Order: sequence, then C-alpha cells, then structure tokens
Amino acid sequence: MTPAFEQLQQVITSRRSCKPSSMNGKIIPDEQITALLELANWAPNHGRTEPWRFFVYGGAALQDFCLQHATLYQENTLPESFNPAKFNNLLNQYTTVSHIIAVVMKRTQPTGIPILEEYAATAAAIQNMLLGAEALGIQALWSTGGMTHQPAMKALLGLGEADETLALLHLGYSDTPPTEGIRKIPLAEKISWKK
Ligand SMILES: Cc1cc2nc3c(=O)[nH]c(=O)nc-3n(C[C@H](O)[C@H](O)[C@H](O)COP(=O)(O)O)c2cc1C
Repeated sequence: MTPAFEQLQQVITSRRSCKPSSMNGKIIPDEQITALLELANWAPNHGRTEPWRFFVYGGAALQDFCLQHATLYQENTLPESFNPAKFNNLLNQYTTVSHIIAVVMKRTQPTGIPILEEYAATAAAIQNMLLGAEALGIQALWSTGGMTHQPAMKALLGLGEADETLALLHLGYSDTPPTEGIRKIPLAEKISWKK
C-alpha cells in the first residue's frame, strides 16, 4: 500500500460519530468550515449537476436555527406525542455544537439524472466533509433527527418541492474519547466476489 492509502485508511477507520451532547462548545475557525465545504464540493456527481447545497449556521445564527428547529418540532407534533426532552435537546444544541450545516440535495431541472443519483452525490459530499473533519480533529454527527426530513424543514430552508435535506451535520470538538467503531455484519457477508 502507498503512504497516501495508509493515511486515508487511518482517517476513514478512525472517524466516529459524536453526539452533540458530547461536544464541548469550542468554536471551529471559519477557515476550517470553508475547507470542509471545499472538500464537499469535490464529490463525484453524475452529469455535472453538483446537487449539494449548504446552509451553514454558527454563532447567533446557530442559536436562532436551534430555536426555529425546536419550534418546528413543537408546532408539528401532536400534544400526546410531544416530548419535552426532545424539544429541549433541539433548543439547546447550540450550547455544545460549534456549527450545524444543513446539507441539501437541490434537484436540477430539467435533468435526465435519476434522483437516486442526486442523493448519492450529495451523500458523497457529506462523507467528504466527515473525513475532512476527522483529519482536522473536528467531531461530527450526520444527523437526520428532529424535523430534518419533514416538510416544515423544507419550508424553513426555502427548498423546492423536489429538493431534500439529507443531513443536519453537527460539528464541534469533544473532550470525550471517541466511541468504539462497530460494524455488526462481517464484510465477507456483504461481498459477492466472482473470479
Ligand atoms: C443517513 C444517516 C443518518 C443518520 N442519522 C443519525 C441521527 O439522526 N442520529 C444519530 O445519532 N446518528 C445518526 N447517524 C449516524 C449513525 O448513527 C452512525 O454513522 C452509525 O452509528 C455508525 O457509527 P460511526 O459513524 O461512528 O461509524 C446517521 C448516519 C447516516 C448515514
């Protein structure tokens, strides 16, 4: 293997999801957020549609976003299903998280590219950011919690009918050691290799 492969392998295998509650409130410099967005922009995509879009929330805008997210949850949940702990969790994420980036698939119209491929390209952009974050010592969570997939989030972000939010990427730092990586299904069971 090459040194480049070994470095990449180290970054890929060391990357772990980190819960916002394990983040410590330390703020990521803007240049590093920009560097992650630049990595995202190099994701492969079919037909050069570059379907990824990013809504970056930091500072006071992050606090506002958390309030809006929690409010959307409250407004769109039946009273009997409403969970105050979930509301408070959404509301207070800004206290531990440095930035939240809403990563959106913006459907190109008209296009012959299947929507599945637009999702796939946007997911690749997200993974580029996760790996870049790992290499920079930044903790991250690809979250689809709260209202991520709900029409109310689409409206908040001003998305079109065919657009979708694929992630609320929570970024920050943590003082807690990363959790152990777990893969439950042996790799061999996932491979059908014909020779
Ligand atoms: C599409 C997608 C959605 C996810 N949504 C959530 C989520 O809402 N909350 C959460 O805690 N983790 C979420 N995760 C992170 C997974 O829980 C995590 O990747 C998985 O447990 C494997 O752990 P690892 O990332 O440390 O390898 C999501 C991951 C993906 C790919």
